[in-house]
Amino acid sequence: MTAKKWHDPYEHPSLLKRFATPILRGLHDVLPEPVYEAIYNPAFSLYQWSIRESYARGIALARRDGDSQRVTKMERVYRVMKHSLVGAPGLEHTHDLAQTVIDEGVPGAFVECGVAQGGCAALLTQVAAGDHDGRHCWFFDSYEGLPEPTADDFENGRTGQHIRPLPKGSCLGTIEQVSELLFDEIAADRGQVHLVKGWFQDTLPVKREAIGPIALLRADGDWYESTKCVLENLYDAVSVGGHVIIDDYCSCYGARRATDEFLAGRGVHTTLIPDGRGGASFEKPRTALPEAQVA
Ligand SMILES: C[S@@+](CC[C@H](N)C(=O)[O-])C[C@H]1O[C@@H](n2cnc3c(N)ncnc32)[C@H](O)[C@@H]1O
Repeated sequence: MTAKKWHDPYEHPSLLKRFATPILRGLHDVLPEPVYEAIYNPAFSLYQWSIRESYARGIALARRDGDSQRVTKMERVYRVMKHSLVGAPGLEHTHDLAQTVIDEGVPGAFVECGVAQGGCAALLTQVAAGDHDGRHCWFFDSYEGLPEPTADDFENGRTGQHIRPLPKGSCLGTIEQVSELLFDEIAADRGQVHLVKGWFQDTLPVKREAIGPIALLRADGDWYESTKCVLENLYDAVSVGGHVIIDDYCSCYGARRATDEFLAGRGVHTTLIPDGRGGASFEKPRTALPEAQVA
């Protein structure tokens, strides 16, 4: 594997995760599902609300410091946070990469595979709208939630560092919800933004020609087969200097396995950059190593 090794959240989870995960797993094992949901859902909403409140305080500080670029980024992130599972550090990382490819003139669309309720998609459309050349955005999802994981997703009976299991249908966002967010709330340009409903395995091979070059690719489908399908169908379309985000590289075993296998199989020599929350990204390098040089 050619990717650089770095502080690994698998081995060093955050304090909150270390504290909360065993408690929640224990409760999940002993409580009936409806009782567990009745405890977990409000607790999680409260946790998300407190994160948003503290983020809003961060915006006020950035305003006080006169840091207008940071204020713009944080306001965009704040606007979409409650619609996203990605978390503020992951959203900021996505914002930075989207802005970087615009600033560097890397050609191509913004593509997200795994949209859920559309928070990150809404962020990308806001950044795209700031580009004079007008970037297209493509958002692929079943809009029916996650498929079942497969054997390649599991290690010791678990699929990753989630605080609770993710059965089929989890992370659901409907196409109606996402359309409302993007077109009514964010006022995205309908001519530039494309929502494609269906399983990646069916939609990506059909649409990849229409997408053309890609400047930023977000693979956020959690599972091995989903991540592998995104990379196999779309990596070749990523422009040199473009970026690929694997949102679940550090949180889902299958997403990491699919990425490592793909990079090693293609001899892609690159450095994975953690997003500070559970994902990682890499820049598409100019050349691949000859196969013999790949570890
Ligand atoms: C973790 S969520 C995405 C989170 C989202 N990016 C956000 O901002 O909150 C994962 C999404 O991937 C979608 N998904 C996973 N595998 C898929 C596949 N093979 N085909 C279509 N959609 C898939 C699920 O429907 C789900 O909405």
